[in-house]
Amino acid sequence: MSAPNKSYDPVEVSALAPEEVERARDEALAAIAAAADLDELKQVRLAHAGDRSPLALANREIGALPPAARAEAGKRVGAARGAVAKALKARQAELEEERDRRVLVEETVDVTLPWDRAPRGARHPLTTIQERMADVFVSMGFEIAEGPEVEAGWFNFDALNFKPDHPARTMQDTFFVGSEDTDLVLRTHTSPVQVRALLERDLPVYVVVPGRTYRTDELDATHSPVFHQLEGLAVDEGLTMADLRGAIDAFVGGMFGEGLATRFRPSYFPFTEPSAEVDMQCFVCRGASVERGADPCRTCSSEGWIELGGCGMVNPRVLVACGVDPERYSGWAFGLGVERTLMFRHGVESMHDMVEGDVRFTLPFGMEI
Ligand code: DAH
Repeated sequence: MSAPNKSYDPVEVSALAPEEVERARDEALAAIAAAADLDELKQVRLAHAGDRSPLALANREIGALPPAARAEAGKRVGAARGAVAKALKARQAELEEERDRRVLVEETVDVTLPWDRAPRGARHPLTTIQERMADVFVSMGFEIAEGPEVEAGWFNFDALNFKPDHPARTMQDTFFVGSEDTDLVLRTHTSPVQVRALLERDLPVYVVVPGRTYRTDELDATHSPVFHQLEGLAVDEGLTMADLRGAIDAFVGGMFGEGLATRFRPSYFPFTEPSAEVDMQCFVCRGASVERGADPCRTCSSEGWIELGGCGMVNPRVLVACGVDPERYSGWAFGLGVERTLMFRHGVESMHDMVEGDVRFTLPFGMEI
């Protein structure tokens, strides 16, 4: 009978051979050293220290060794795994420090940078002056009325006593919506709202109509295909041109200061009779620039007067078209250009500035939000 052969090794344990363990350790240490960032190190940890890493697998083999060989193999593998774990820990700390340093630089907040410079924008001066113009009349008891910008030709022309062959009706001035037969236009003035107000409201009527209007003009220094008007209409018993003149004087006082003269010049509009153009005395030179040898005035071109708009007594035909008895009621109306008013009140020289929407033009007029 022979004694048991203690060195008999029935299991394949080449993974535990000293050179294998050393190779696995060295590969792990090299990979750890080569890991350039924390993500890469994570992969390295998995590959060289994870459950399926060569050293972990070798460790599992220890149990298969004969008891006498286990201690030494265990020591060898343990030492190798210890070295790998230590290297991983050191590299982890190194890479974390590196990351922290980088984040500090990359995410630096410059607390000295201005934080309140985001432009908030401003209301357009056309809007604010239009409101201011309307407000003068609201303070006299007028109501604001509105109407559509796409308007029936009947409101824009017929009811306002434009004859079918009136030049304003042609393609040259009017934007037609669809064909000329549809009778739909972009309103060429705010006057159609006179008709709407008279049809919709009970008498007496005192309204102002701020609004956008359209004509087929090319954009240049003094024209724009889109512009704004302020219409006024008063229909009551016993109204005369003197009342109209008084309202215009109050408007001039409210917008430009007291003591400025106004004047009416005869004119023609189909929807007023009699009709007038109304001027105000220049609020800058007060007429002085007209004198010989006086300084020239840019605001009134040394005319002494500034043209405000058109006005007149509502034509009885318009009243009739709106179902108002002209024997009992009379009325007056006016139409003022908002762009024009902004131009001469504030020295704006070109229409372009008003339509381009550059806040560098808008801001000096004030936020007024
Ligand atoms: N609607 C006229 C235009 O656009 C302006 C106008 C003139 C309006 C006289 C009126 C008025 O109410 O009475 O040229």
